[in-house]
Amino acid sequence: MIVSAPAKVNLTLQILGKRTDGYHALESVMQLLSLADTLTITEAEQIEFSCSDPALACEENLVVRAARLLHRQCPRAIGARIHLEKHIPAQAGLGGGSSDAATALQALNEFWEVRLPDDDLTALGAQLGSDVPFFLNGPCGVVRGRGESVTPVVHRTTCHVVLAKPSQGLSTPRVYAGLHAPPLTTARPATRLLPETLAMLHALESGSPDAIARAVHNELEGPALPMLPELFTLRERMLEEGCLAVLLCGSGSALCGICPDEATARHAAIDLTNDAPWTWAGPWITFR
Ligand code: C5P
Repeated sequence: MIVSAPAKVNLTLQILGKRTDGYHALESVMQLLSLADTLTITEAEQIEFSCSDPALACEENLVVRAARLLHRQCPRAIGARIHLEKHIPAQAGLGGGSSDAATALQALNEFWEVRLPDDDLTALGAQLGSDVPFFLNGPCGVVRGRGESVTPVVHRTTCHVVLAKPSQGLSTPRVYAGLHAPPLTTARPATRLLPETLAMLHALESGSPDAIARAVHNELEGPALPMLPELFTLRERMLEEGCLAVLLCGSGSALCGICPDEATARHAAIDLTNDAPWTWAGPWITFR
């Protein structure tokens, strides 16, 4: 069984406050990209894991943790050999590890014939990481809570983006800590979406890259960009390359440029290789 584990970008990300458990309550419109890792699953007696990046081939890898978590619910005494081919860079804010974990849960649920319903799989995913539930419910969704509450969004808008990442990554806990967010208050009605979220949903419906570019917003840029000042110059370079807007991917350190068309994205990815060691161009995915 060969399955792909796509990357994501947070088109909007708003912080509502710090929760008593230390996590931040957020609201975010998340979108899957066509950039993806690949998982190959074959039969084995035990759970065995290998990875194209030897530094990630360890028991702590979220893929192994996902497999062991689901295996407890597996009625049959079988394992799986899982090979992970990495294409999504780490510490980029693209959700690579979370996507690998979500894809492993989904694929092994089928491979081992566990047949856990989607809601149970999403609850298992939330134990592995805040972004994992989204990856089980993509390709687009409004994410709330600490990430566990996902409302799927249906749209047909394909947008071409360019990604660029400096050699240095950013640590997610460090970026969140840099927010110095006030404690969460419960004054907001839980059902009402933020204006920024609504603006993005309208932009996605309109299908216009210009409208999407006007609606992007990531509050983690506040603490993240000063931690890696070369992001300011990289952002300028991406705008010079024709990007309509440039935003930080999640907690960084990759930047995402919203492009008017495929050619702009492809040319930008080539031109930006002088400014960043890793670049990528491609479309969003609108169905899975
Ligand atoms: O859930 P996950 O392990 O992916 O989160 C990594 C870190 O990011 C957490 O330890 C926390 O510092 C921060 N985080 C947060 N609020 C969220 C999601 C992540 O503070 N909603």
